Amino acid sequence: MSPSPRSSDASAKPARELWGTRWGFVMAAVGSAVGLGNMWRFSYIAAEGGGAAFLFMYIIMIALLGIPLMLCELTVGRKTQLSPIGALRGLGGRAWVPLGMLFVLTGFLILSYYSVIAGWTLRFAAESITVGFPENPGAHFGEISAGLSAVVWHLAFMALTIGIVMVGVQKGIERAALILMPSLVLIVLGLAIWAAFLDGAGEGYAFYLLPDMGQLMDPTVIRQATAQAFFSLSLGMGAMLTFASYLSKDTDLNQEAVTISFADFGVAFLAGLVVFPVVFALGLQGDVSASTVGALFISLPGAFADMGGIGRLVGFLFFLALSVGAVTSAISLLEVVTSSIIDETGMGRRNAAIGMGILIALFGLLSAFNTDVLGLVDAIAGDLFLVIGALAMSIFVGWAMKADPVEELRRGAGKRFYSLIPFVVVLIRFVLPPVIAVILFFALQDTWGAITGFFAG
Ligand code: TRP
Repeated sequence: MSPSPRSSDASAKPARELWGTRWGFVMAAVGSAVGLGNMWRFSYIAAEGGGAAFLFMYIIMIALLGIPLMLCELTVGRKTQLSPIGALRGLGGRAWVPLGMLFVLTGFLILSYYSVIAGWTLRFAAESITVGFPENPGAHFGEISAGLSAVVWHLAFMALTIGIVMVGVQKGIERAALILMPSLVLIVLGLAIWAAFLDGAGEGYAFYLLPDMGQLMDPTVIRQATAQAFFSLSLGMGAMLTFASYLSKDTDLNQEAVTISFADFGVAFLAGLVVFPVVFALGLQGDVSASTVGALFISLPGAFADMGGIGRLVGFLFFLALSVGAVTSAISLLEVVTSSIIDETGMGRRNAAIGMGILIALFGLLSAFNTDVLGLVDAIAGDLFLVIGALAMSIFVGWAMKADPVEELRRGAGKRFYSLIPFVVVLIRFVLPPVIAVILFFALQDTWGAITGFFAG
């Protein structure tokens, strides 16, 4: 098409960039989902929730709430081809703009501390090569988790993330995910096979895989399983919505939602098959279930140090996989913020990614200097805001948006899913809002406790 003077005026928007291939989108979305949440957060929460009892509830919550909610986000993104604020405005009117803003704020906050934890991960990966794992992991963690060294690794990680998002959807995000995700799966799979041969693997598996019936109906376990499902599947803040906005309109979202959720669960499950045998082989179970942000960063390096040379290699691979997962997740967090700035202000991608990335990195300094702040921001954004976002999103798609959800989800749907869709919409309308509202009630109490605890010192 030859550019006429009219179509090339400043107000004409360039066509929106789309994913290069369907597989590229799936890998990027799996990359968003698979991250620190699958190994760091999953293992300590699973340990706290009694291992198998948690695992069982977790699977139910993914199927019952996670997949329908993912479909909500995907369908809004694909239909509007806009980032969250514009998408919600377009399908819901001005009243829904604040929800879009909450999404952007949540992405900003989560990335600010996620990057600090990713920085610890990068550091362990690097140190495993240069100096090996620490003899006294608790003290070592105390030294590196907050302060100047945490700041340096946090900034390095943010620079890497900004560098990828800046380049764009196909050449940056998609290409990174296509290389990184398969490598991550191979590494974790290899580690799980290795862990099967450890003394104590049996006990680890027993804890992880045999449910203790008493804990099954524990409301705390149920609530944590739900929050973990949202966090791990990257739901409740428009990340999947944003990624779906780069899809063409005939993609089968149902197939994609199932694939992404299975892949995410699969990696978390495999990570458990690594962590629990290692932890039980060395008698460290107390450390992991002492639910602090540091659990995995203290017990595992300690275990790797005890194993000598092989521990160094295995530990390197473990932290490498974790770093890879962290990068592809951080990309999606920054993309939500960046694409919203691009769509709302017309700023170029490069400037938007760098500008917002720097602001997030600066805010993250608070978490890098103080792990209590990190825990507080996680309690506010990771536990509370995601649940609020998830609740609002299910109401939006089920009841408020100016489009018929059944019709939207059927667009592009294969035969296998076509007849299931009315059932999914019933879930979205009648099951998700009340169930998530109950979870929200408890999340409010927890987060309030975290805030008062923080200020009480
Ligand atoms: N899902 C990622 C993980 O498991 C973290 C993450 C990336 C995320 N994007 C998100 C969490 C959006 C919530 C919302 O580590």
